[in-house]
Amino acid sequence: MTVLGIDIGGSGIKGAPVDVKTGEFLEERYRIPTPSPGKPEQVIEVIKQIVDHFNWEGKIGAGFPGVVRRGVIGTAANVSKDWIGQNLAKLIKDATGNKTTILNDADAAGLAEMRFGSGKKYEDEFVLFLTIGTGIGSALFVKRELWPNSELGHLKIRGKDVERIAGDGVRTEKNLSWKKWGKRLDKVLQTYEFLLNPDVIILGGGVSKKFENYGKYLKNIDAEVIPAVLRNQAGIVGAAMAAAESIIID
Ligand code: BGC
Repeated sequence: MTVLGIDIGGSGIKGAPVDVKTGEFLEERYRIPTPSPGKPEQVIEVIKQIVDHFNWEGKIGAGFPGVVRRGVIGTAANVSKDWIGQNLAKLIKDATGNKTTILNDADAAGLAEMRFGSGKKYEDEFVLFLTIGTGIGSALFVKRELWPNSELGHLKIRGKDVERIAGDGVRTEKNLSWKKWGKRLDKVLQTYEFLLNPDVIILGGGVSKKFENYGKYLKNIDAEVIPAVLRNQAGIVGAAMAAAESIIID
């Protein structure tokens, strides 16, 4: 099946038609910068442009950076608060005529990484997938089954959200060395391990390709820690998977 996958982010909205069987894009990814301040009507306008770009008629799957329940946005940490309570699935359906499934962006990226990326060999494990960008997103998998909306980036250590301690946004804002940032990430992973005890931790997001710079500072973790391999297509592919299959509560 082919589904138009869309990844809604704070800086860009990206889409591509995905062959859900292979996880491959059928056409080159199309990206439009997220209009500031990213209010619902502005984002819907961009999604319409992406749908028009591909002349798309068919299912749509989209990842959103917040809690999503049955198409309705529950939280919006790094995007406009106007999103809270909006039925994004319905807004896209009404604007484009295409049936739409919405899920959390990290859940989407995790689904793709588990099926087509570095998670594919873990059949019987408990896997914690993290996507580290401006925010930290999380997805939990037990025997490959997703536990949605886990929001571990908002776990607090000494009163501070971990995404404000070890997000990639903090690393670039504060110009932290890989060593300094790696040690922060090590602390955060230790806390996750203490509470959840996963067998494997997969690190996704932009920093996944820089693993050799900070992997050596993740010293105090018993779980196997590995980088994701799918790069920035994961969110699009996973959103398409969720629309094609009955993976999330829809
Ligand atoms: C949001 C999550 C999202 C993550 C990555 C966090 O701030 O709360 O829902 O998955 O950022 O975008």
